[in-house]
Amino acid sequence: MSTTSAVPSIDFPGARDAVRDLRSSRIREVANEGLGKENVLPFWFGESDRVTPQFIRDAACEALSSGATFYTHNLGIAPLRDAIARHVSALHGPTDVNHVAVTSAGVNALMLAAQLIVGTGDHVVAITPLWPNLVEIPKILGAHVETVSLEYGATGWRLNMEKLLEALTPATKLLVVNSPNNPSGWVMSRDEQKTVLEHCRRHGIWILADEVYERLYYGDDRPDACAPSFLDIASRDERVVCANSFSKSWLMTGWRLGWLVVPATLMDDLGKLIEYNTSCAPSFVQHAGIAALNDGGSTTRQFVRDLRTSRDYLVRSLETLPGVSVTSPPGAMYLFFSLPGAADSLALCKSLVREVGLGLAPGSAFGPEGEGYVRWCYACDVARIDAGLARLRMFLEGRQLG
Ligand SMILES: Cc1ncc(COP(=O)(O)O)c(C=O)c1O
Repeated sequence: MSTTSAVPSIDFPGARDAVRDLRSSRIREVANEGLGKENVLPFWFGESDRVTPQFIRDAACEALSSGATFYTHNLGIAPLRDAIARHVSALHGPTDVNHVAVTSAGVNALMLAAQLIVGTGDHVVAITPLWPNLVEIPKILGAHVETVSLEYGATGWRLNMEKLLEALTPATKLLVVNSPNNPSGWVMSRDEQKTVLEHCRRHGIWILADEVYERLYYGDDRPDACAPSFLDIASRDERVVCANSFSKSWLMTGWRLGWLVVPATLMDDLGKLIEYNTSCAPSFVQHAGIAALNDGGSTTRQFVRDLRTSRDYLVRSLETLPGVSVTSPPGAMYLFFSLPGAADSLALCKSLVREVGLGLAPGSAFGPEGEGYVRWCYACDVARIDAGLARLRMFLEGRQLG
């Protein structure tokens, strides 16, 4: 007699639904297309091609040599928190150190802020197109994210205030605003901020302001110009949380250092969250942050001057290309513009890499509202931009002939 034993079905393990549903990065998808291909010119990631200034690297080396290798206070070492408080006060008005916490870069600041405020079933509104992390982070926590899209016109990207206010109801827990904006370079005006703050106050809605590009601002010619900030108009004890980073203003993307400004009433809880996320930012990196804040004014000023030159050059050059629609944005370090064939921006960007070795980010990486556009990070010198433009021309001409 033969016996057949049933094969037990295997229950393959998987992450929980909220995590499985997260969008994977379309910028990475395009970058993977270039793997193994020599001579790709990458303009797809949001960072400068310059190394961190020597004096900041020296500060980290000195801290390491003198033994800054231990855990620190959850909220950061006191001299760094003091330096951040002084920096924020100089830009945005009096800010006491008990409103400041050090984080492991901007993205960790955003995760911590979201963990402080939103949970399962909460309703979040985000202004898009937007760096995807800002939309995906609340979803990890089980929140529902509604998007309000900027609108593109002859003068660039603009906010439809009526649409935004309509979306912000007493049922909304949190508004996410990134200004200056990645990818569009849009900057929320002071008047718009006042209207939004008033409305959010009326309905008890939290504002998470991602201001990591605040110093990369071209709307004001003064050397220490800074984009309008919610910190300029809000009191430090209301429902406004502001995230910032050393990555962009001091060319420190790989260091993973940032900060949060929050109401003092949240600080104990924020300390607990930092304990359970990272415990603290790396000790010697925090020392480098002090050097950046104390002596990095000229680094930022020079970076912004160079960005302005690169931006103007790229805009002028793109304007001469048939079928390209581009405007000059007031902030950040990206051009977000339409190109022939960008109706499927992911396919277009993959073709650009494959056919001419030009690395741009597809607009759809920044939400469905970004479809039809591509993003070009211009944080590099004009010669490199020129090389990229030559490839783009070659690609567009090839398409016309074909
Ligand atoms: C809008 C925005 N916020 C936050 C960040 C986070 O930067 P980091 O984690 O390097 O500080 C980025 C990075 O590109 C960004 O574009």
